[in-house]
Amino acid sequence: MSNPPGVPADKLPRHIAVIMDGNGRWARERGLPRIEGHRRGSESVRGCIAACLEAGVPYLTLYAFSKENWQRPADEVAALMLLLDRFLAERTAEIMERNIRLQAIGHLQDLPDKARKRLETTIAKSADNTALTLTLALSYGARTEITDAVRQIAREAKAGSLDPETIGEEAISSRLYTAGTPDPDLLVRTSGEMRVSNFLLWQISYAEIVVTPKLWPDFAKDDLFAAMQEYARRHRRYGGI
Ligand code: FPP
Repeated sequence: MSNPPGVPADKLPRHIAVIMDGNGRWARERGLPRIEGHRRGSESVRGCIAACLEAGVPYLTLYAFSKENWQRPADEVAALMLLLDRFLAERTAEIMERNIRLQAIGHLQDLPDKARKRLETTIAKSADNTALTLTLALSYGARTEITDAVRQIAREAKAGSLDPETIGEEAISSRLYTAGTPDPDLLVRTSGEMRVSNFLLWQISYAEIVVTPKLWPDFAKDDLFAAMQEYARRHRRYGGI
């Protein structure tokens, strides 16, 4: 384990969340089909994982497929699902070897059976791994997540097991899909877009945001190190001075 150059251990983020954007533009710039951009993008995931393992960042969450992404053309959606399936088929051995715990957040019931089963298998197999918790956001939307949590709270209140007067932030956090995972300290977005796109809206309340112009397929290990260095230079105030 080695810190990225210039980053003292106490200035490392504990949790990095990434909005992987720009696969389509990367492909278009090269006259390639969008799907080729996604294929290359799935390779960039390895660099990010390697950066976190090397630096000792214990949580990495990747926005792999949003609730809104189902509106894309059917062939693109099918290709993304196939990439997920292949990623799991080809990388499960590596996930185990590198001591990575895989998790997923989102409406996983929306995923095709084959990919969902493979995902569940790798999640179960890797549950006791400890070097890095890698969370894939799949069929994920933050507003849906918050709505699901509100519905759960209402159910418990109606059943009498939860007193509405005791509901605080923790009651909400613990009913989100990310329950048990610390909030992201650093949110990285590629391709220069200044948006959060319905990603972890509750959890990123105090996250530092780093936006890079690089398109996701070009984003490599050193780029995540550079984002960690930028994070280390920030002065987090949480509303104080
Ligand atoms: C955004 O690029 C990217 C996505 C919608 C999907 C992200 C998926 C991957 C990186 C590959 C699969 C991941 C795993 C973990 C197997 P875009 O298509 O919105 O790009 P554009 O804005 O340039 O069109």
